Amino acid sequence: MLCGVRRAVASTLLVLLLGAGCSTWKRCAYDGFGRDRWQQPERVVSELGLSPGDRVADLGAGGGYFTFRLAQAVGPTGLVYAVDVDEEMTSYLEERVAEEGVGNVRVVLGRFEDPLLPDGTIDLLFTSNTYHHIQERPAYFRRILDDLSPDGRLAILELNDSSWFPRTFGHQTSREQIVSELESAGYALQRQLDFIERQSFLIFTRAGR
Ligand SMILES: C[S@@+](CC[C@H](N)C(=O)[O-])C[C@H]1O[C@@H](n2cnc3c(N)ncnc32)[C@H](O)[C@@H]1O
Repeated sequence: MLCGVRRAVASTLLVLLLGAGCSTWKRCAYDGFGRDRWQQPERVVSELGLSPGDRVADLGAGGGYFTFRLAQAVGPTGLVYAVDVDEEMTSYLEERVAEEGVGNVRVVLGRFEDPLLPDGTIDLLFTSNTYHHIQERPAYFRRILDDLSPDGRLAILELNDSSWFPRTFGHQTSREQIVSELESAGYALQRQLDFIERQSFLIFTRAGR
């Protein structure tokens, strides 16, 4: 009986989401249900230690789950580049920026191999649940060093293998692999935060700084 009810609710949701269009469906898939509970987005942003005026890139911004929170943290004198390679996501973000009158978010349709950021300006490149999508990561992140300001940092939030979704679909990277790839790309691990059960949260600086 309970199974039948669950199936009916799931089917109704599916029909509603499909009817709502592809970008809505993708955003729901990225956020899942009750994400705020396990994700603790306010704590994530607070641990990044951003200052008003900072320039941040949200690489693989998706539906902007972190973009608009990052924009609040850097304030009106700061700037957040919301980068994605999916035009449906960048169009959605453009609409949201316009509707909400957010003045400090620039939406960028990046290339798979290049986020098209201005050289030497990014104080923090942040990326959530996107690391596993990046191809040839050591080379990609070595090029990102050119986009960072001299004290620029890189923050990686990436699903680990402790929940069913990444285990089933391979959408995850182990902490060890991230550290090894980024060290080979010219970064040093500065902080590791362990308060999110299903994600690694790692902050890197340029090696030697
Ligand atoms: C799972 S979603 C994560 C969205 C968002 N960061 C979040 O935490 O909700 C991954 C996003 O990364 C984007 N993406 C994949 N490869 C990318 C690349 N090379 N550069 C920029 N974005 C990319 C996808 O289009 C997708 O929107």
